[in-house]
Amino acid sequence: MLTPARNDMLTRVGPGTPMGELLRRYWQPIAGASELDKTPIKDVRLMGEDLVLYRDRGGRYGLIDRHCPHRRADMAYGWVEEKGIRCSYHGWLMDETGACLEQPYEDTTNPKPSKAGCETKAYPVKECAGLLFAYLGPLPAPELPVWEPFTWRNGFREIVLADVPCNFFQCQENSIDPVHFEWMHDNWGARLRGGDANGAPKHLKLKFEAFEHGFIYKRVREGQSEQDRYWTVGRVALWPNGFYLGSHFEWRVPVDDENTLSVAWFFVRVPKGREPYVQNRVPTWRSPIRDDTGRWITSHVINQDIVAWVGQGRIADRTKEHLRSSDIGITMMRNRFFEEFEAMAAGKEPGGIIRSANAAQCIALPNMAREINTEGLTLAEFDKDPILRQRLKEFRHHVGQPAEVRREFVEAMGLA
Ligand code: FES
Ligand SMILES: [Fe+2]
Repeated sequence: MLTPARNDMLTRVGPGTPMGELLRRYWQPIAGASELDKTPIKDVRLMGEDLVLYRDRGGRYGLIDRHCPHRRADMAYGWVEEKGIRCSYHGWLMDETGACLEQPYEDTTNPKPSKAGCETKAYPVKECAGLLFAYLGPLPAPELPVWEPFTWRNGFREIVLADVPCNFFQCQENSIDPVHFEWMHDNWGARLRGGDANGAPKHLKLKFEAFEHGFIYKRVREGQSEQDRYWTVGRVALWPNGFYLGSHFEWRVPVDDENTLSVAWFFVRVPKGREPYVQNRVPTWRSPIRDDTGRWITSHVINQDIVAWVGQGRIADRTKEHLRSSDIGITMMRNRFFEEFEAMAAGKEPGGIIRSANAAQCIALPNMAREINTEGLTLAEFDKDPILRQRLKEFRHHVGQPAEVRREFVEAMGLA
């Protein structure tokens, strides 16, 4: 249970708030690069700031103020040029550093050597593994962490986005909540398919450990032992707002205090014999969360999680909760945020930030599925594992995978 003031500290993300300032110190995934293929400009709202993301014709990414520095027109309705983005109202041209390069009428009638004072807000953007990451904090920006899975080859990757109408922190608390698998995904999942028993293997034992890049949770369920990878390796609640499950990442990126962009990145290594496989473009698609009647969609794993997150309210009221031993990880995570807020207030850099380019190049995380993804399996071996067999059959994480993405996947896997 938290006081209202402490709940605010964990959930408010605007500039100047403790959480807002903390999250701005880390690169945040904000889009798939392939989203800009058809239309090179996209409006985005991040931590309460309205911005436009673009790729100019020279291939440079920019993330600048949504409003033009001239008279505040919407830059999302401008167009990109060889260098920069131009406002459609009076043609001012801005680049990715925020500099104003042209002011056409002034340049014709009253040219000045400098346009100082007309800069717009601009944040750095980097592409990695098909994702676009933005950094909204004080400069110099730290290194972008290249997690090991981003370096894996011979895999099919896809990015799935979902717009979730609640605060990001309750989504992130789900990253350190092993018991919900038994109830939400297993028992409720079975009920949704017409079952009539709470037959999922029970959780018998939990352990939560902190490390530089977050927390690892470990568990033993009925039918498993401490020799199982779920106990010896575990899964990672990735600091500060991610989740890593061995073959995919999820991030809960704050749009504002009451909305979250769910960003998920998936990897499936092609079966042995299908290498070399080179994926030139990582597809990005948006998963719906409501059906035609307005009810939340419950059929897919992350959609089920979203039902839990939004069900807690726009901002979960943590003054009314009752934490138990299943929630030890939640408390550890909250406490680390509170400690980091204090450290930042004392002028220290928060943990897990990487300043060495070498160290950022390929960062390994605990992973129960490394060999599957680095060495690969034959199609026959895929078939022997119930989860992997299912993975080839259909995309179970999010509803709404577009037919063309499925086609590319089938082709890559050699399933046709
Ligand atoms: S408002 Fe953008 S150029 Fe005038
Ligand atoms: Fe879940």
